[in-house]
Amino acid sequence: MKNTIATLKERKQNRQKITMLTAYDYTTAKLMDESGVDCLLVGDSLGMVMLGYDSTVSVTMEDMIHHSKAVARAAKSAFVVTDLPFMSYQTSVYDAVFNAGRLIKEGQAQAVKLEGGQAFSEHIKMITQASIPVVAHIGLMPQSVLALGGYKVQGKDYQDAKNIVLDALAVEQAGAIAIVLECVPADLAKLISQLVSIPTIGIGAGVNCDGQVLVYQDMLSMYDGVASKFVKSFAPIGHYMKQAFTDYCQEVKQQQFPTSIHEFAIDSEVMSKLKS
Ligand code: KIV
Ligand code: NA
Repeated sequence: MKNTIATLKERKQNRQKITMLTAYDYTTAKLMDESGVDCLLVGDSLGMVMLGYDSTVSVTMEDMIHHSKAVARAAKSAFVVTDLPFMSYQTSVYDAVFNAGRLIKEGQAQAVKLEGGQAFSEHIKMITQASIPVVAHIGLMPQSVLALGGYKVQGKDYQDAKNIVLDALAVEQAGAIAIVLECVPADLAKLISQLVSIPTIGIGAGVNCDGQVLVYQDMLSMYDGVASKFVKSFAPIGHYMKQAFTDYCQEVKQQQFPTSIHEFAIDSEVMSKLKS
């Protein structure tokens, strides 16, 4: 059965954790869907892990739609959320609604995600009014890397922490269906999770959020970027991949691959005719 916004609501009510992983392609998304991951996030982190940029600010609507379609085709059960990229919604409420619509219609997403709290209430409200579910992303907002001067924990002092609480309340009020809380102290995330009735999904936000999300290349040790404190490697897949690629090169060079079991046969009469 396909997960919907009702599934997320139920999970919070029943105190069952929501599981979310990023996905950007059909093959990986299908493996996750078959593993019972509740939500697949087509994150704009794809700019870094799939396209090799050093931040998410260069990601385009076309990039997001392209990858979102591939993930949506694999998601038989999982709920698909796709990120609005930098400058696709900050410019105006009109742009926000228009581009959210593209992620749904062309990208086949079930919900969109945008970075912002109080300052983006109106955007969230109007996208929601267009019948598009919105997930808000607060705390550390990677699209603001140039303004922040780097990626760091948010909400450590009173004023910052209070602002993040106000962001959470504002996006709930505006109609957001869930909140991604990135890189905030665990106790702050716990407080916010208690204050809002919509699910919180944490990344670097402690165990008391209603759900968790990770970038899959991080949890599989596939990406060579700086490993954050909040990342856990669940399997050294990057290492296995490198080993397999190395073995392949060696076997090809030494003519150990392919062998007779990988070959197609031809009738010997056909061959002798060809040679004559
Ligand atoms: O783009 C992304 O992967 C995200 C998650 C880190 C929440 O927004
Ligand atoms: Na993102």
